[in-house]
Amino acid sequence: MFSIALPKGRLADKTSKLLFNLGYIGETPADNRKLVFCDAERGVRYFLVKPSDVAIYVEYGVADIGVVGKDVLVEERPDVYELLDLKFGKCRMCVAAAEGYKPDMSRPVKVATKFVNTALAYFESVNRESEIIKLNGSVELAPLLGISDVIVDLVETGTTLKENNLKIIAEIMKVSARLIANKSAYKFKTREIDALAAALSVAVSAEK
Ligand code: PRP
Repeated sequence: MFSIALPKGRLADKTSKLLFNLGYIGETPADNRKLVFCDAERGVRYFLVKPSDVAIYVEYGVADIGVVGKDVLVEERPDVYELLDLKFGKCRMCVAAAEGYKPDMSRPVKVATKFVNTALAYFESVNRESEIIKLNGSVELAPLLGISDVIVDLVETGTTLKENNLKIIAEIMKVSARLIANKSAYKFKTREIDALAAALSVAVSAEK
């Protein structure tokens, strides 16, 4: 049995279509409440979890492999192998602020974000003291309502920033979906996992 953790949300469609086209899964999970799919014929079990939880399932060995954004890997530092850049789900981790923002260097910058570790590491790397305010979503609201000076968040099209009169002031890193593997599963199923990674690599390169 081969076990795969798939992310719900933005990366879901693309990931399941790729695996379906390569014959690893027999049906693409529809937008319903079913979360676990067993495909006895192919010897594959796959399940849908929150993107930020994929790496946890893989690290703990419940899933042999998974697909997760680089943002989660950098933020959570799970003990897994990162096997392949899947080159979709592309976006950027950025620092953004309201139009006309002027930094006050006499005090730490207040940063609202879901990505606490990433934000801390970034401001440390530019020698700027920061105070991090952890939010779980709609982070763009924070500077508008005055609880932070800036945000650290993912930017894909830039629409959310634009609609909230925010602008990018620094880019921290580029982000895309990655194939990850549990370390001991990789040891015991090297051939199968390498074959899947190779097939995915060919499929994503062919799409460009
Ligand atoms: C992400 C991110 C931004 C938005 C960026 O949020 O946190 O808010 O997408 O996309 P854009 O540049 O194309 O506008 P998501 O939709 O995942 O929801 P969340 O705020 O609840 O995390």
